Amino acid sequence: MLRITRYRYNNVPYDSNGKYYYIADGDFVWNPGWQPTQTKLDSYECRHGIGYTRFTSSKNGLSAELLNFVPLSDTCEVNCLTVRNTTDSAKSFKVYSYVEFCLWNALDDMTNYQRNLSTGEVEVIGSTIYHKTEYRERRNHYSYFSVNEKAAAFDTSRDAFIGTYRPASNPAAIENGGCTNSVASGWYPIAAHELDVTLEAGAEKTFVFVLGYAENPVDQKWEAPNVINKAPAKALLAKYQTKEDVDRALTELKDYWTNLLSGYVVNSADEKVNRMVNIWNQYQCMVTFNMSRSTSYYESGIGRGMGFRDSNQDLLGFVHLIPEKARERIIDIASTQFPDGSAYHQYQPLTKRGNSDIGSGFNDDPLWLIAGASAYIKETGDFSILDEMVPFDNDESTKVPLFEHLTRSFDYIVSHKGPHSLPLIGRADWNDCLNLNCFSDTPGESFQTSGPSEGPVAESVFIAGMFVKYGEEYRQLCLHRGLTEKAEEAEKEVKAMYDAVLTAGWDGEWFVRAYDANGDIIGSHKCEEGKIFIEPQGFCVLAGIGVKEGKAQQALASVEKYLDTKYGIMILQPCYTHYYLNLGEISSYPPGYKENGGIFCHNNPWVSIAETVCGHGDRAFEIYKKTCPAYIEDISEIHCTEPYVYSQMVAGKDAAFFGQGKNSWLTGTAAWTFVNISQYILGIQPDYKGLKIDPCVPAQFGDYTIVRKFRGATYNVTIQNPDKMQKGIRELTVNGRSVEGNIVPFEEGVKEYNVVAKM
Ligand code: GLC
Ligand code: GLC
Repeated sequence: MLRITRYRYNNVPYDSNGKYYYIADGDFVWNPGWQPTQTKLDSYECRHGIGYTRFTSSKNGLSAELLNFVPLSDTCEVNCLTVRNTTDSAKSFKVYSYVEFCLWNALDDMTNYQRNLSTGEVEVIGSTIYHKTEYRERRNHYSYFSVNEKAAAFDTSRDAFIGTYRPASNPAAIENGGCTNSVASGWYPIAAHELDVTLEAGAEKTFVFVLGYAENPVDQKWEAPNVINKAPAKALLAKYQTKEDVDRALTELKDYWTNLLSGYVVNSADEKVNRMVNIWNQYQCMVTFNMSRSTSYYESGIGRGMGFRDSNQDLLGFVHLIPEKARERIIDIASTQFPDGSAYHQYQPLTKRGNSDIGSGFNDDPLWLIAGASAYIKETGDFSILDEMVPFDNDESTKVPLFEHLTRSFDYIVSHKGPHSLPLIGRADWNDCLNLNCFSDTPGESFQTSGPSEGPVAESVFIAGMFVKYGEEYRQLCLHRGLTEKAEEAEKEVKAMYDAVLTAGWDGEWFVRAYDANGDIIGSHKCEEGKIFIEPQGFCVLAGIGVKEGKAQQALASVEKYLDTKYGIMILQPCYTHYYLNLGEISSYPPGYKENGGIFCHNNPWVSIAETVCGHGDRAFEIYKKTCPAYIEDISEIHCTEPYVYSQMVAGKDAAFFGQGKNSWLTGTAAWTFVNISQYILGIQPDYKGLKIDPCVPAQFGDYTIVRKFRGATYNVTIQNPDKMQKGIRELTVNGRSVEGNIVPFEEGVKEYNVVAKM
């Protein structure tokens, strides 16, 4: 609804049409960011920081530095361009800016030409170009692009600046020596400035460009007939007039992140662990909080709202960073639950209402709410959230305490079991592509919404594992509320599920994946393809199933034997080589990709956590490293994605491009890898009563320290491992006193805990 600049979907290369700055210097037209002219530069560097990016480049005796960021507290993006003359004589040249506006609604912008080619409107005042398409009617907002310098000329019509039949790499205005002060009327509104610059030898000049967004109250939209009220834009621009203003805003941004990321800081001998844990993994967790699965190179930001399961899992990775926002998120999510405990699979972030296009029927969803809520309580100790009054399906008249929502989640699984006493799968469980009740044979039909949302036969061993894990959390919450009977009931149910998994869910060497709508087994040695799946191995073992029976260890050994590769653990083997009507989308992907045998990074940490449950620190860390960006930077030509951010998927060994990553940034991988490394490997686990210290590391990992902020106190934790153990601590001292067990109890009023744990 509120897109400021245009994004060209389905375009190649897909990062074209950004905000461009051109330098026209004698025979050369070049860009500090190389695109779009792709003029060969004398030097080029691009650095991504936390919330900002800096390009540094040079050409023909001029050097340029372009800094881009969105300030913390203003609705704008700042692009600060400094150009320096590195020669020993004066230089005169031109700088041009260029952005192309989106006509607000992205889908409408790219489809509704018959209307949109006549609606574009702008206003130009000095060096500020205002984009006000549709402001004359129902929009009370506009955007603007400005520079802190008098422009020699401007353009707002794309045809005038770029020229008809020309690419952005070769704008007509630049070729013709300048802009023509074009005023867009319909067609394609853009904003371009032309700036004349003369620099003495060694001199430099800074331009502050601001791309802003403003809203006005309905009764204050206009300052004159058809002239928009520019007060909010002017107020904002006044804050970004000098390089000092920019520096101040950047410092503010950096301080924000430094402070935010100070809640979990590890210092180990492994620089890559330190870098990923302290900076990039937590940063990615914040990005998934902010963006969920909205806009990125891989998600269009159109349609699909926030996932019920995705959002609960994302929360596991950011709850320690922004607990108040996590609280609000849990309430929002729970408000989209149905009275029977099932849930809308997705909800719209702006209205916070369930998305009826997709509806419910994904039977893992209810349990993720318990996962999210219990993680929040363990982090904050704030049990009061359980008493918060929360509606069903956003119907205010149905409000009940949040705890009741968790009960409905739990009961939903109990009351939806199939022939083997395992949970019914519904449309799908965590694996959206295992569509056992769908039977789709029509091209283009959605696997997610076709067929019945329920089936009385198809069952999921994965949900069973979840039930054991989060059923136990639920039981503990019951106990905390003094509901002993409910707790006993829950214990019985969890026990029954545990047993069902070890019988109908055990295949001999590993855990079964599911039973289909005919009651046929999926993920078994009896199957021709898809004999073993990762999800039940990871989740059942991390839930503790089969550990004392020795089956957990066997399942993990099978994972290593059948699913492991040098780039991570594949989701299943052997891949499906043709389409199976009874399995759905999973068999629609070519072997090695996505859910059909890709390395689905999201569930690799489940196996790593499972290994820690069994005490295998070496193996847990080996799994961690295989998908961790910092460790695969040196195979970037194979991996092909950012070496500091997790991807959803890396192509499996059956794929043509084995090892190639896809769908980076917006993935539950961020949260789960952070949970794995921070809580299970490095071993700092929030618990109801305090911080549990339970490391499971490689024997050679060495000593390390962690600073952890927890419930308003600071924990300085030192882990000593003189005997090169892989798991567990044998001595714990807190503020000089020795403590039994491995929990540092939280005490109201104590602000600093100096913790020494000896493995
Ligand atoms: C995607 C979805 C997630 C699902 C996963 C596996 O990442 O966002 O909800 O669990 O795929 O299918
Ligand atoms: C497709 C993807 C899966 C995703 C789902 C919902 O099925 O393969 O990863 O979860 O779409 O968007």
